[in-house]
Amino acid sequence: MNSGAKPKVAIIIGSNRPNRICPTIATWVKEQMTRNDLEIDTIDLAEIKLPFLDEPEKPAADNYTKDHTKAWSELIDSYDGYVIVYPQYNWGYPAVLKNALDFLYKEWAGKPVSLMCYGNHGGFQGLMALKLVIVGLKMQSMSTNPPLNISDDMFDEKLQFKNINEAFASYSTPVKAVAQEFVDLINKQNLE
Ligand SMILES: Cc1cc2nc3c(=O)[nH]c(=O)nc-3n(C[C@H](O)[C@H](O)[C@H](O)COP(=O)(O)O)c2cc1C
Repeated sequence: MNSGAKPKVAIIIGSNRPNRICPTIATWVKEQMTRNDLEIDTIDLAEIKLPFLDEPEKPAADNYTKDHTKAWSELIDSYDGYVIVYPQYNWGYPAVLKNALDFLYKEWAGKPVSLMCYGNHGGFQGLMALKLVIVGLKMQSMSTNPPLNISDDMFDEKLQFKNINEAFASYSTPVKAVAQEFVDLINKQNLE
């Protein structure tokens, strides 16, 4: 539970392979969403380094036994909402992301989430695939889930963005709209 005055949102970096582009996109998303009335942190699953789910009971039983689960629970519980930035992998989503989601239950439930999936053709299948998972977790789907289209011409020889501000210029408005939606939604919920 966030005990601060401002709504607090986590941007989750949903891929963990070496040379990934996800942190660059998450940083760009954070820049677009930054405003005075919203607190935003970034959570990198590559740094969190959860093992494959190793709890004996299902997460909904809320009986965590491992220190890494308790720490992950405490971290996720401290946010009012989430942006998940992730790539489409084979029409789905990265295993590291599903594992991190599967570790917990009540911490996600009821919280608003915006899915920002990237891939060729905007990562449409990856977006649809994770939408089903967040329904299972009883999260609140935000109305804005901007599809982020990537194409080969955006990248240099090291497969990193040549200029993400140029490449993603047209997504700035919808990503800013996500920030507005979080502020409106969370402040309204806090008043109820
Ligand atoms: C395992 C794997 C599967 C992929 N599957 C898709 C895919 O289904 N559709 C797509 O548009 N791109 C696909 N790609 C290309 C990714 O969009 C691209 O490699 C992107 O950089 C991955 O994000 P990351 O760098 O954060 O890992 C795939 C990449 C990997 C590594």
